[in-house]
Amino acid sequence: MYDFKIAVADSATLYRDLASALEGLIAGEPDPIANMANAAALIWESLPDLNWAGFYRNLNGELVLGPFQGRPACIRIPFGKGVCGVAAQTLKVQRVEDVNAFPGHIACDSASASELVVPVMQGERVLGVLDLDSPVRGRFDDTDAGALEELVRIFLDATDLES
Ligand code: SME
Repeated sequence: MYDFKIAVADSATLYRDLASALEGLIAGEPDPIANMANAAALIWESLPDLNWAGFYRNLNGELVLGPFQGRPACIRIPFGKGVCGVAAQTLKVQRVEDVNAFPGHIACDSASASELVVPVMQGERVLGVLDLDSPVRGRFDDTDAGALEELVRIFLDATDLES
């Protein structure tokens, strides 16, 4: 039904197309789980060199696995632990060029070599994180980080976070 063909292009074009596709896909849908599921699937389908893309949700101060694409993953991550937990605790994007050099990295899949984690914030409140893993070292640059933050903003704008 939804057939978003996002062409392989330079990263500015790719991310512009991805942002409009996400806007179209979740427009008018307030449910957070549905929108996280479709955002994860769209990112997974559109970005090259990923081995995992998805969300962890903040449930009572712990990150719990949410909608994702890729291999089954660790279910619960305490704040401050691993790349995801550090992003949730510091409220800062974590862009890790080499996960083996990141103290406390949680290896859900030994194929992962680099990682990008964007906190999902409603004002001061951390709702969770968006996590991307890649089997390629140094896969993510600052353009990827900024573009993923923009995708999170699009998700937040469309979603009813109280539902
Ligand atoms: N590597 C993450 C754990 C989540 S998985 O990559 C899906 C971390 O260190 O927080």
